[in-house]
Amino acid sequence: MSFTLWFTGLSGSGKTTLSRGVYLELKCRGIKAELLDGDIIRTNFSQELGFTRRDRDINVRRIGFVSYLLSKNGIVSVVAAIAPYAKTRRQNRQLIGDYIEVFCKCPLSVAEKRDVKGLYARARAGEIPSFTGISDPYEEPQAPELVVNTDRETVEESLMKVLSALEDRDLIPYRDQCNICNYTEEDEFHRRQNLAALGFARNVL
Ligand code: ADX
Repeated sequence: MSFTLWFTGLSGSGKTTLSRGVYLELKCRGIKAELLDGDIIRTNFSQELGFTRRDRDINVRRIGFVSYLLSKNGIVSVVAAIAPYAKTRRQNRQLIGDYIEVFCKCPLSVAEKRDVKGLYARARAGEIPSFTGISDPYEEPQAPELVVNTDRETVEESLMKVLSALEDRDLIPYRDQCNICNYTEEDEFHRRQNLAALGFARNVL
């Protein structure tokens, strides 16, 4: 049995950055882990889905089910997906059991100012309907295991917070108790490049 670490929050709240950081650190500590990023899942696994409530629910439940399968078989599932609806997150929590929710808390104004993908501007211009935070709700988690305030913490601080929480819960070993392996961002890059060559995974690390 393993666990699922689910980063939820607005677009631009830091989910992808933090999930990648945690994932690489887990791999480096020799822990079996997989990264399920909303954007990558939507490109390769949920291509037919849009952003209606129904479609988001299917997407989020799908990610939840894969996480359940991975975690049940000893693989940590690190997820970065908005998962805007409390009910669907609750269902995933029930299904998975060992479910750690990390709320990437960031005011809409800050996420919008970052606008990493330029989507907020397009959403404001009415070009993207049902955009989370603008024209579709984000129901904030009421009792997440962890909150990272990504508008006030550095990436390093938030990463440390998450890793310490996992260590304190005995879910992962401390760094100095691991046989540190050499799994690096470069290894991950090559793995994703191979996938991309086969027509998968739009995003690379
Ligand atoms: S979820 O609601 O189903 O959990 P998911 O995390 O998979 O969403 O995908 C969100 C990503 O899709 C965003 O980071 C953004 O890049 C893109 N996106 C495109 N349209 C929308 C939209 N209407 N609302 C939110 N994100 C959108």
